[in-house]
Amino acid sequence: MTNQNAGIIGMGHAFPSGILTNADLEKIVDTTDDWITTRTGIRQRHKAAENEYTSQFAVKAANQALERAGLKAEAIEIIVCATTTPDQIMPSTGALIQAQIGATNAAGMDIFAACSGFLYGLTMVESMIRTGQIKYALVIGAEVLTKYVDYTDRSTCVIFSDGAGAAVLAPVAEDKGILATKIRSDGRYEEQLYAPGGGTKLGTSHATINDGMHFFKMKGNELFKVAVRSMAEVSREVLEKAGYTVDDLKFVIPHQANQRITDAVAQKLGVSDEKVYSNIAEHGNTSSASIPIAIDECLQSGKIKEGDLVLLTAFGGGATWGSTLIRF
Ligand code: UT7
Repeated sequence: MTNQNAGIIGMGHAFPSGILTNADLEKIVDTTDDWITTRTGIRQRHKAAENEYTSQFAVKAANQALERAGLKAEAIEIIVCATTTPDQIMPSTGALIQAQIGATNAAGMDIFAACSGFLYGLTMVESMIRTGQIKYALVIGAEVLTKYVDYTDRSTCVIFSDGAGAAVLAPVAEDKGILATKIRSDGRYEEQLYAPGGGTKLGTSHATINDGMHFFKMKGNELFKVAVRSMAEVSREVLEKAGYTVDDLKFVIPHQANQRITDAVAQKLGVSDEKVYSNIAEHGNTSSASIPIAIDECLQSGKIKEGDLVLLTAFGGGATWGSTLIRF
């Protein structure tokens, strides 16, 4: 069996053009710019139009990632789309992306792991490349969360946003790429962030729609504590597994859930604020898309350079969480 490191060789990201500022939200829900900025760090979020949907942003991000990797879509063997907001329940968004980008030799699929989905995808694909099962893969985080947000529920509608980020994964040199990765879940936290309606348990009906059961429901402050503890714990585990400490890190890219969560994770890990990436003020919480979007921004701005050791960490509904250590 081969033992080949897998790394990111191209990234891309995309957003809808619509923007919802804190001032816009002040007009439709009982909130203030001051509350949102202080409690979340968010100043604006992206919002898809009625006729826009998840795979459109995923395709833009994927095509950009392929171009930067210098690869044709036909070279891709697996497309993993991490999303909690698929275009439709069937077929998978991964399969729809496959058709739209012309990845005729790939298998497309979805991963449902909320905000940790991109790290779940990286972890799965890493092992397929490591063992020589495949050579090239696309891992995408793509969401249109604003279509699942109840704009009368002020504790959820202020944070969620829309967008997509994509990464092309390929075999890389022995000291590069994904050095360690770990994913976890605990379904006992189901009701801390969930959309109860529309599945086989509570199928779509006039009653479920009238009761808003298709919207995301979140006990944000309870989730907050679990998020901070879990991300810090799994980050330490991954660093230890690879034989590194936080001092070796160039950068930490956490899922952009809430600026206060990011600050608390950094403090728990003992990492200075300058080493922790944040774009939540401009982009809000894009769930599975937030980490690939952030990586791409860091690569494009030169914040991350070849050889840098970067820790990714995420937490989301499920609960799900994970960390991935990458040398670029
Ligand atoms: O993406 C991964 C999964 N999601 C997360 O990790 C989200 C984690 N949680 C959070 O980001 C935060 O918990 C929220 C931003 C959702 C809420 O912030 P918080 O500081 O935890 O507020 P809270 O829920 O404890 O509420 C405090 C107060 C309450 O009022 P009372 O009962 O003290 O009078 C809320 O009703 O703030 C009120 N409140 C608001 N006030 C103005 C909640 N949302 C708002 C709002 N504007 N938008």
